[in-house]
Order: sequence, then C-alpha cells, then structure tokens
Amino acid sequence: MKNKKIIVGITGGIAAYKAAVFVRLLIKEGAEVQVVMTEFAKKFIGTLTMATLSKRPVLSQFFNPENGDWNSHVDLGLWADALVIVPATANTMGKAANAVADNLLVTTYLSAKCPVFWAPAMDLDMFKHPAVNKNIKILKSYGNHFIDADLGELASGLVGKGRMAEPETIVSYLKNFFNIDKKLEGKKIIVTAGPTHENIDPVRFLGNRSTGKMGYAIANELEKHGAEVKLISGPVDIKCQNSNIELIKVQTAQQMYEACKEDYSQCDIAIFAAAVADFSVKNKSNSKIKKQTEELSIKLVPNVDIAKEMGHIKKNNQLNIGFALETDNEMFNAKEKIKNKNFDFIVLNSLKDKGAGFEYDTNKISIIDKNNNVENFELKSKTDVAIDIVKVILKYYNL
Ligand code: CTP
Repeated sequence: MKNKKIIVGITGGIAAYKAAVFVRLLIKEGAEVQVVMTEFAKKFIGTLTMATLSKRPVLSQFFNPENGDWNSHVDLGLWADALVIVPATANTMGKAANAVADNLLVTTYLSAKCPVFWAPAMDLDMFKHPAVNKNIKILKSYGNHFIDADLGELASGLVGKGRMAEPETIVSYLKNFFNIDKKLEGKKIIVTAGPTHENIDPVRFLGNRSTGKMGYAIANELEKHGAEVKLISGPVDIKCQNSNIELIKVQTAQQMYEACKEDYSQCDIAIFAAAVADFSVKNKSNSKIKKQTEELSIKLVPNVDIAKEMGHIKKNNQLNIGFALETDNEMFNAKEKIKNKNFDFIVLNSLKDKGAGFEYDTNKISIIDKNNNVENFELKSKTDVAIDIVKVILKYYNL
C-alpha cells in the first residue's frame, strides 16, 4: 500500500469507531490517507481522532468555515487511488446509487475516477430490505466493490448479518486488489463464463440461469495478478469493466468450443466456469415456429463437451479447472467429473446450499483436486470466491 492515496469516507454508524483502526492500519502500510466524514459520522467518532491518525485535517464540508476555502470534491476524486467507505450506511449507499449529492462524501464519490470500495454496516433487518439490496446492486453495476458484512452480534443486541468487516479484512482486501506483485505475469489463461443459448428458431432459444458472474469475477482476479486473460463468454447482462481482459462473446456451445480450441494449445491454464447447454436443437427452424394447437416435439442432440475435449488434448504443463453445479450426490459427481474431463481441480457448488448457484451474488464452494483432497469454503461474495480460487492456483505453482 506504500504511497497509495486513499480517501476514507466515514458515515454515521456505530461501526465508525472501527474506521480509526482502519486508518491506523493504512498509515502503517505506507498509504496516504484523506478522511472525509459526513456530519452524522462526527457524532460517532471525533474529527480530532481521525485527523491525528490520518495526519491530515478531516474534510466534511464544501467550504472550510475558518478561511472560506472550497474543498474541491473534483480534485479529491482525481487525487485518490481508491475511495473506501468505512462504514457504509444504507443512507450514504442510497444517496450514492441515486446521485443525491448533498454532502462532500457523495460529491467526491460522484467525481472519483478510482476504484470504490464499500464496507456496509447496519442492522440485520435493514440489510435484508429490498431497497438497500437494490442500491447495493446498482452500486455493483457501476463496478464498485463490496467488502461483505459479517454475521454476528450487532449493536442493537440482535444477531445476524450486518457487522462491518474487520479493519484487517478490509486492508487485506485492498492489498489483494492492488496486488503489487503480479505473480501470474506471463501466464495465458482461458476462462469460459455464462450460459450458452441454443436456437430453436430465430426468436427462441434453450438456455439456463447462469449469469456469468462467477466466471467474470475469476477473469478479473486473474488479470489483477498479471495474467493474460481471454474470457470466452456466453450471453450475459454484465459488462466486462476490465479493458486488459480480452472478451470473446459467443452464443452457442459450438461457438464456445471453437473459441476455446483456437487458444487452448497456447494457454497455461483453462478454467471452465460456463454452464454450457448439454443439448442443442436438431432441426432448428429458419423461420418463427407458429402457434399451434397440437403438441410440439423438439428433438435435441448432445453438444460437444468443451472441457472434456480440451482434457483430451491437455499437456502435462497445462492446468484445467472445472466447475460442478450439483443438486444430489455432489461430491461423488464432482470426483467423477475430475476423472472424465481430466481436470486438475474442480470447484463444486451445491444448489442445496443457500446463497450458492446462479442467481446469487454469493457462492459457497469446495475445491477438490485430482487426488481427491477437498478444501471447503464459507459462503462468500463471488468476488471473494474468485480470490480463493486464484489462491489455489498460486499455491499450485508455488507462487
Ligand atoms: N462443460 C463443458 N462443456 C459442456 C458441458 C460442461 O465445458 N458441454 C464443463 C463446464 O463448464 C464445467 C464442467 O464441464 O466446468 C461440468 O459441467 P456440468 O454441467 O456440471 O456437467 P456435465 O458434464 O454437463 O454433466 P451433468 O449436466 O450431467 O451434471
């Protein structure tokens, strides 16, 4: 974190006391810190404490009341390498998501060109509220990062999700993000992501519920470590924000296979995170199938198994990682897939686990290697799951 310029935004929640430890840790790591506080934050922690720890005067108003100076949110936004909001209240997240620019922190947020990190903290029922979740979703869609709140006892005395992540966790998240040592530099990596769509006729297709979030998160994490990443993606709603990642968009399993085949022999690692359709339609109609009263049968033919085909031509110096999304006999099926598809590792997620699978921003995984060693992980955001998966890769290469 040496010489990294960090704006720490503090908002009005009881977890604001943890912001003091957070700033202290950043300074210890060699970062330059500018604290921006909302008016409510000052009720929870003193500006003198924060100014002393950060070694700079705290900013909280558009004008400096003593000398009438203008605190330029534009300059602040351009100065920073990261903006971290610790703790993030429902109020400030709501304002940021909707551009309600009525304080210095939100205007700084709107002017910032740097990555933004939110460490939310609030009571469990607020956290569950659809309005809060909607705002978090909006902020995520802008590419903002979230350091998920923990489960535990809350200031209200209730127990649930809402405790702000510990300052040490937030610092290590940032260190990981900036990932000063590019350990995967020189490695060429293919990642498949998303569903595939198999046409029935020009307006209809067979698909599945995959969102592509897991594959995109893995691609981002690999790129942060300096890898040369090719992301072969089926149709998804998310945008690849990272211009260093080469994005190849495909529709069908056959197209995904062809894109993989083209690059596989030169790649070091292939990660098959896509939920490839197992079948495509035998006789696709070139014109729209019209409504009819009788039953309609559609004949399906098996698709190429991309991972298995790449497994056949895999060389000793290549690493193949597969995914298994299972509903029953999870471990058995995952181990079978390792053998059948010549994977070195498989990432198993079970639809029986709450919060795991396609439609969530979270996932709960186990990673199994080809010698049947199993590592189980907690339920985490998909970004954090990607960090765990990349750690396994780094360990494999002794990096
Ligand atoms: N896979 C693939 N090409 C396919 C089907 C699957 O590359 N046509 C890959 C997936 O990306 C994943 C792994 O194989 O990494 C396992 O996929 P999964 O759908 O769980 O398994 P299937 O082999 O399709 O078996 P089943 O659907 O019966 O569980």
